[in-house]
Amino acid sequence: MENITLKTASAETKIFINLPFINFREEFLSFTQNGYFDNVVIVTDSNVRAIYGNYFSDYHVIEINPGEESKSLKNVENIYKQIFDYNIDRNGFILGIGGGVVCDITGYVASTYLRGVRFGFVATSLLAQVDASIGGKNGVNFLGYKNIIGTINQPEFVICDSEMLGTLQDKEFRCGLAEIVKSSLAGIKELFTFLENNIDSINKKEKSVLNKIISDTIKFKVSIVEHDEWDKGIRQILNLGHTFAHAIESKTGMSHGEAVSIGICKSAEVSVKLDFFSNMDLERIKSLLNKINLPTITNIDFTDVLTFIMKDKKRNSDYINYVLLKAIGAPLIHKFKIEELKELI
Ligand code: GLY
Repeated sequence: MENITLKTASAETKIFINLPFINFREEFLSFTQNGYFDNVVIVTDSNVRAIYGNYFSDYHVIEINPGEESKSLKNVENIYKQIFDYNIDRNGFILGIGGGVVCDITGYVASTYLRGVRFGFVATSLLAQVDASIGGKNGVNFLGYKNIIGTINQPEFVICDSEMLGTLQDKEFRCGLAEIVKSSLAGIKELFTFLENNIDSINKKEKSVLNKIISDTIKFKVSIVEHDEWDKGIRQILNLGHTFAHAIESKTGMSHGEAVSIGICKSAEVSVKLDFFSNMDLERIKSLLNKINLPTITNIDFTDVLTFIMKDKKRNSDYINYVLLKAIGAPLIHKFKIEELKELI
């Protein structure tokens, strides 16, 4: 087991990597019994509850449907009502057990109910372990746009148990790997080479390699968030591949990780066109993504995509901060006029 602490000006998150969920449960239960929390409610989805529900049957449970559609204000209201009925007050605790959707909505509910209730996560998907549960971003989708309502507020703890990834559907696992590839490109060159050299073991979910890539990716994200919790500068490199990805997801219903994979390739292609990045490295990226069975192209109309991008929450006036690559592990935030980017893509 490995412990990492994420410290920001206002909060501290304890992140436990490779902590068996079963052991965590015993500890959490003893916290509850010792009066560390007055009242606990668990937010989870029906898939996670079907597999792990026996381990938390002694708590109040709020169940949501799996999938991105659950990230809505309507669902937030439903959860507020149930939390209210369970008498959760400022001494209560909200524990999200699930993937990215559960973490995003639980974090938002906990950050806004009574202007903030204590919360933590057991991240059950690879994507949640390496990205969604770390760094405090939470929120819901609105009017078809992803994550445009939300807060940045750090959980008290995050539990990552790679054993839980054994029950993940193949596609969800591959989508988590897309975020790991993204992080390697955004700042961990050695991790990219490790992924290239160990992709067969990774695809087979071998525990030791999984724990290494989860740990490297989390440590990288922690270092970025500690420098720029509020996403004003360096944190934007974590958006590599996400500008187009959000739009592709919204327009096609494609999974987040698949859309990120296409978005990463688009950024690398634009970087090649601008002579920042080598064609050889672009081919390395595509080859790795292909080996993970992630898409690298789409036949979506990018003019439509740009209309979405115009409304993307990351847009400042007619300009957009777009993350390019100078090399593997060396990102570059470039401010484009929308028209300029349109010509390049
Ligand atoms: N998922 C990108 C970030 O947390 O900033």
